[in-house]
Amino acid sequence: MPTTLIEPFRIKSIEPIRMTTRAERERLLDEARLNPFRLRAEDVLIDWLTDSGTGAMSSRQWGAIMEGDESYAGARSFYRLQAVIRELTGMEHFMPTHQGRAAEKVLFTAACKQGDVVPNNCHFDTTRANLEYLGVEALDLVIPEGLQPALIHPFKGNIDLDRVEHLLRTRGDRIPFGMITVTNNTGGGQPVSMANMRAYSELLHRHGKPLIMDVCRFAENAMFIKMREPGYTDVPVKAIVQEMFSLADGCTMSAKKDGMVNIGGFIVLRDEQWMDAVRNMLILTEGFPTYGGLAGRDLEALAVGLQEGIDEDYLRYRLRTAEYLGERLEAAGVGIVRPTGGHAVYIDARSILPDMPIEHYPAWALCNALYLQGGIRGVEIGSVMFGKRREDGSETYHSMELVRLAFPRRMYTQSHFDYAAEVIAEVKEDARNIRGVRIVKQPPFLRHFTCECAWA
Ligand code: F0G
Repeated sequence: MPTTLIEPFRIKSIEPIRMTTRAERERLLDEARLNPFRLRAEDVLIDWLTDSGTGAMSSRQWGAIMEGDESYAGARSFYRLQAVIRELTGMEHFMPTHQGRAAEKVLFTAACKQGDVVPNNCHFDTTRANLEYLGVEALDLVIPEGLQPALIHPFKGNIDLDRVEHLLRTRGDRIPFGMITVTNNTGGGQPVSMANMRAYSELLHRHGKPLIMDVCRFAENAMFIKMREPGYTDVPVKAIVQEMFSLADGCTMSAKKDGMVNIGGFIVLRDEQWMDAVRNMLILTEGFPTYGGLAGRDLEALAVGLQEGIDEDYLRYRLRTAEYLGERLEAAGVGIVRPTGGHAVYIDARSILPDMPIEHYPAWALCNALYLQGGIRGVEIGSVMFGKRREDGSETYHSMELVRLAFPRRMYTQSHFDYAAEVIAEVKEDARNIRGVRIVKQPPFLRHFTCECAWA
């Protein structure tokens, strides 16, 4: 039996990648002020900045796009997608939004008020920002294992139920709902077990609180459950997905991930609670409830994408891809967040640059080095993203210096991953020549997107 796991698709339409030389990349990165976000995508060879909205659609999805009904109200495409979502989630109420953060904004505005507190394993940045904007405290209560990069644990995305229970006892009156993010992106794309979701759901319900799931990567999470959780080996992923959703009272979704589309999101709710307020907010900011900020063709592509995203051959290949790169990096002595998650590999920059002063932003420096060496674009998750410059000019730094390589779905082949593994190993070999940076110009928030840097 061959052991190589092949991509379970073949290529029908291609998009050329522009080759660049190191000399060119040095000039391009200089022009981008040493900030990979400021590069033009066509100057990047392998773009692993994000898995969000960047994947390849299938021929079935492109075919469905021609079926799009662009009617303002009551379009056929809405009802087609509603049927798929109702079957998967078992929830009655479905509203499309233009992407995940819009679903968050609409739902939170309807359900939260100033002074509330919302527990989650880890809030994604936009989830946290949308809650904080409303004066709500966003509490990250992932299990302690989830915060130790090198530690192996099958479900590092689990929420710490003791801490949730304590919170419910002490501040229960301020909790509008509990959240859980599957997979836990901020914690390394790590899955949450069915047992943990079930216990969390029961705990919240005992206290009369609903469970809202952030389900961007629900299919990857379900596949991890199938592969790792006792009792699920022979359960079809679709049934695992349905069981996960049966524990929730509502969900926010960025369809740009496991929905396999380039744009889109949605809210689902089990019952009428918050519905009037949600519908009103949706109309105010997104559009009429049967299109919610999307075109009819987008709804069609999503109806197909949600079904393709739970295909087990696809998911096996998807999770194996991250694992494969992780194995090659570990063999080269590169430290990573272990075990590898669903959509990305997170490199511990300190394993390559143990002595670089934190003021020179080691993970940012590594990100730049990957681009210079091989045209690879990842994203820094370290002190540029999460640190801050105080008024007196001093800085706060992040606890970890990571580089995330996030994989667009169905886009890159094994040879791209082999190439990346070689590039990263070369960068490690040549680590003494990696240069750190200093920030010369930065905005007051989210500085990583636009800051300008110079070599330290
Ligand atoms: N929740 C999670 C867990 C996410 O990972 C994201 C987006 C969102 C919500 C927001 O969705 O982008 O459609 O508005 N994550 C992307 C990333 C941006 O690169 O991880 P959105």
